[in-house]
Amino acid sequence: MKQRLKLSFLIMAIVAASAVVFGSARINSAVASATAATPFDAAAIYSSKCAKCHGRDGRAQSLHAKHVHARDLTAAEWQNDVSDERIFNSISNGKGKMPSFKKSLSENDINSLIPYVRGLRK
Ligand code: HEC
Repeated sequence: MKQRLKLSFLIMAIVAASAVVFGSARINSAVASATAATPFDAAAIYSSKCAKCHGRDGRAQSLHAKHVHARDLTAAEWQNDVSDERIFNSISNGKGKMPSFKKSLSENDINSLIPYVRGLRK
């Protein structure tokens, strides 16, 4: 009887321990997917950090945009000329009156902004 009690306790302990292990693995992957930037994040980042200069539509038509000479991100000629690498570097290091975003955005965030900027093309 005692032996059996011990055994069932052992089984319960194993079940509990594996629940903890599998449970935390699931939490970890949820955290990992939450930290990887998605197109949805790119739109949120763009509207909070970029739209004030480039405009929501990227056309940089506001007075402020004109004042700082923000680039019209929709322009086809510019889109044709510019490489993804340069877009990355300009966002990361800043350019002219555009500030550097190296400190406030992760590499992932900046990478996710490249297709977003491409999508603004008219
Ligand atoms: C303070 C205003 C301001 C903010 C905020 C701003 N930009 Fe800019 N951006 C500019 C200006 C000004 C230029 C033109 C720089 C130049 O060519 O001298 C520019 C240029 C660019 C370019 C073209 C760079 C190139 O190499 O041709 C891209 C792409 C760009 N911005 C994307 C972004 C993104 C994405 C964000 C948000 C993370 C952002 N900008 C935030 C002002 C801003």
